[in-house]
Amino acid sequence: MLMNPDGHAHGALLGPEAGALAERFPLGFVWGVATSAYQVEGAAHEDGRGDSIWDEFCRRPGAIKDGASGDRACDHYHRVAEDIGLIASLGANAYRFSIAWARVQPLGAGAWNEKGFDFYERLVDGLLERGVAPYLTLYHWDLPQALQEGGGWANRDTAERFAEYAVEVARRLGDRAASIATHNEPWVVAILGHQTGTFAPGLKSQKVAIQVSHHLLLSHGWALRAMREQHCAAPLGIVLNQAPIHAATDSPEDLARARVDDGLTIRWYMDALLRGRYPEDVLEFLGEDAPQVAAGDMDAIRQPLDFLGINYYTRNISGTGAPLALVGNGREVTDMGWEVFPGGLTELLLRLKADYCLPPLYVTENGAAYLDRLIDGRVADPERIRYLHRHIAAMADALESGVDVRGYFVWSLLDNFEWADGYTRRFGLIFVDYATQRRTLKDSALWYRAFCSRARATAAGAPSTRQGRSNG
Ligand code: FCB
Repeated sequence: MLMNPDGHAHGALLGPEAGALAERFPLGFVWGVATSAYQVEGAAHEDGRGDSIWDEFCRRPGAIKDGASGDRACDHYHRVAEDIGLIASLGANAYRFSIAWARVQPLGAGAWNEKGFDFYERLVDGLLERGVAPYLTLYHWDLPQALQEGGGWANRDTAERFAEYAVEVARRLGDRAASIATHNEPWVVAILGHQTGTFAPGLKSQKVAIQVSHHLLLSHGWALRAMREQHCAAPLGIVLNQAPIHAATDSPEDLARARVDDGLTIRWYMDALLRGRYPEDVLEFLGEDAPQVAAGDMDAIRQPLDFLGINYYTRNISGTGAPLALVGNGREVTDMGWEVFPGGLTELLLRLKADYCLPPLYVTENGAAYLDRLIDGRVADPERIRYLHRHIAAMADALESGVDVRGYFVWSLLDNFEWADGYTRRFGLIFVDYATQRRTLKDSALWYRAFCSRARATAAGAPSTRQGRSNG
């Protein structure tokens, strides 16, 4: 239920600075909100959905901070009509979501589950009816458990299964999707899932993690090739998490460490996707843990990209010192402990433009967790408004310096299941009371709504509207 209807805006409307910021974006710029399947859908054991590695991981004692799971999450599967209404009410013209592979193909191979596809058909058509463009992601971390039992992403066959799955989704939804991204953040899947073990499937081997990263990239390339062979109409690409890496000090050790981390997080993926090779210095650093690469793999990975999605939250500081010491010094942080560093977004986008021949970019995730409280029907979250404002401004700086960035998606539409942190972190523009599933627009949602409407009005070049909408 929507707690604060139109107009009851708690003073969170647009100030003059935000109004001026909105005017810096061109006509057609995409303003969206994002979620992913396992984090919001719930209905984990309904209508024929198979188990995913996250269902399995959540059953592991100690794996999730609050012992929770995505079994119910935001119950989005059952509340999809209400949630589409909320997206539309924000004035966002794009919604980024992911398909739960095990919902549409319970075993990750073989039979398709029609009830699963029905859900995504309803979602896509419902969005289009409300004028919201569907930005689809095929893999946001929830591998069918049956595939994990056959070795998961460490097994090259999984990349073939992924390409089959991609083709089926493209065949059914590709005519209405605004875009299809293969993977969300392959670095996270590879490293947090297979090296640190903090995410599903919880393995702890660098060698496996690096091989997984290769198979993820390969699956991306094979999927793009196969979807194009089937004449998929939607623009095709991939979403990477990226952050500029800054050395903690100027010591040679810290500078060297930062260069390696830059290689492992940014160049590994960018060089493979856009240049068809892995960076030499990283291969050297990995030594025996370097991946097995078969003939033709790198050409398969380097498919033309119609777009590249960048998820940006913070910068990373690299060095040989203790991690806490590196981010100390009274720097402003969110509830994730992530430093608020908007300039890093400009720096990153400019650097990517300088180093690579890029397709159009989208900031496919940006947002912040704060300790939000619902008091008398209102969630006052001025820090989140400030965070969004500063990052949108950082993006405008990059745009004005010539970076071809075409859209921006707030993470997230709703508070949701934040992986190993369970429900202890709230990233939503919309507050979710998990006991009642009641949704309440936070002040930041009202701000974003005012911002999107201002951006649209000014981009359309209506000067009277421009004046008339100033609320600050
Ligand atoms: C990103 C994930 C997304 C969410 C945010 C906070 O790495 O893609 O699902 O968890 O972080």
